Amino acid sequence: MIFLQQNSACNRRRREANKIELWLSMNEHSHIEDCYIFVSCIFDGQHENEARDKIKELSKNNKVYVVGCFPDAFPNDVFPNVKMHSLFGFGKFLDDTFGLTVPLESLPNNIVNNIPITSGCTWNCAYCAIKHGVGNKLISTPISKIDQMIENSSKNETLLLSGEDTGLWGIDCNQPFSQLTDLLKTKHTTFAFDNMTNEMFMINFDSLMELVNLNKLVQITVGLQHFDNYVLSTMNRPEVDISKFVEAIKKLREKNVTVVVYLMCNFPSETRQHVEIQIEGIKTLKRMGVTFCLFNFHRKLNTNIPFADIDLEVRKKHFHEVFMATQLTPLIT
Ligand SMILES: C[S@@+](CC[C@H](N)C(=O)[O-])C[C@H]1O[C@@H](n2cnc3c(N)ncnc32)[C@H](O)[C@@H]1O
Ligand code: SF4
Repeated sequence: MIFLQQNSACNRRRREANKIELWLSMNEHSHIEDCYIFVSCIFDGQHENEARDKIKELSKNNKVYVVGCFPDAFPNDVFPNVKMHSLFGFGKFLDDTFGLTVPLESLPNNIVNNIPITSGCTWNCAYCAIKHGVGNKLISTPISKIDQMIENSSKNETLLLSGEDTGLWGIDCNQPFSQLTDLLKTKHTTFAFDNMTNEMFMINFDSLMELVNLNKLVQITVGLQHFDNYVLSTMNRPEVDISKFVEAIKKLREKNVTVVVYLMCNFPSETRQHVEIQIEGIKTLKRMGVTFCLFNFHRKLNTNIPFADIDLEVRKKHFHEVFMATQLTPLIT
C-alpha cells in the first residue's frame, strides 16, 4: 500500500498532492510494500519542524519518499529509509520509482487546473522561506508551451496561472508581459493570476486591465505585505505608491475581479505606528471587497534591520487587531 501524507501547504503543493492522490486512485498498487509519499511545504517555521518530525516518525517502520519544498530547502537532512526528491520533476521521480500503469506524468493539466508560467524568483525579500525551495533563477515557461497547456486544459474552468511572482513572466527571455496577456486574450476561458508582487502588479497593470475589459481575468493575488514603505524597505521589498496601488485595486473591483492581498504582521521593524497604518490600509481596501491573507512573521532574519522594541505579548495583540481588521481566517505561521 502507498499512503499519501502532507503537511500544511500552500495552494501549489496542495494541488500537487491532489494530483498524486488521483494518480494513486487510478492505479492498482496493493502489490507495493507499505510506504509513504510525503508532500512537504516550508513556508512557515512551525510546519517545517512538524514535517521533519513526521518524516522521522514515519521512516521508523516505513520507506518514505519526500517531494515538495523540503528536499531543496534542507538538502543536508538525511534520514535512513527516506528518499528525497527536488521540487521539480517529482512526477518522473515517482513514475520511475513505482512504475505504475497510469504514469503520473501522463495526467493532463486540467486535473490540477494550474498552468505554471514561471518558476524561481529574482526578488530578495528578507523574510522569504520560499526561495530556499525555488531558487533565485527565473525561468519563464515559453509562450508556445503555455499556449499548448491552455489548449489541453478544460475550457469550462478558470485556469490558475502560477509562479512565485507571475508578474516577472518574460523578463529572463526578453519578452514583454503583454505577449502573455495577448495570448490569453485569444482564449475561450477565464484566468486567475497567483502570486504577483505589488511592484510587478503595478508595472503590468495596463496589460492586465486589457484582459479585465475582455472579461478574461477573474482573480488576482497580490503580495503587498505592508501599507508602510519603511516596513517594506526593511523587508527588501520595493516601495509602493499606496494611493496608486489603491486606485488600481479599485479599478479591478469595479469590474468584479476578485482581489486577494497577502499581508504580513509583526515583521521585526514594525512599530505601533506602522500597525495603525496597516489597519487603515486594510479598512480602505476592505470597503472595496478585497480578501486578505494575513501571515504572522515567524523567521529569524540574517539582515541587520533595526528591531522595534516591542515585547511578545504586545505583538500578539497587534496581530489580533490586524486580524480583526481583515476579519478572515488568518494564516498564523
Ligand atoms: C506563497 S507566499 C507568496 C510569495 C509571493 N512571492 C509574494 O511575494 O507574495 C504567501 C505569503 O506567505 C507569507 N510569508 C512568506 N514568508 C513568510 C515568513 N517568513 N513569515 C511569515 N509570512 C511569510 C507572505 O505574506 C507571502 O506573501
Ligand atoms: S517575491 Fe515572494 S518568492 Fe520572491 S523573494 Fe519575495 S517572498 Fe520570496
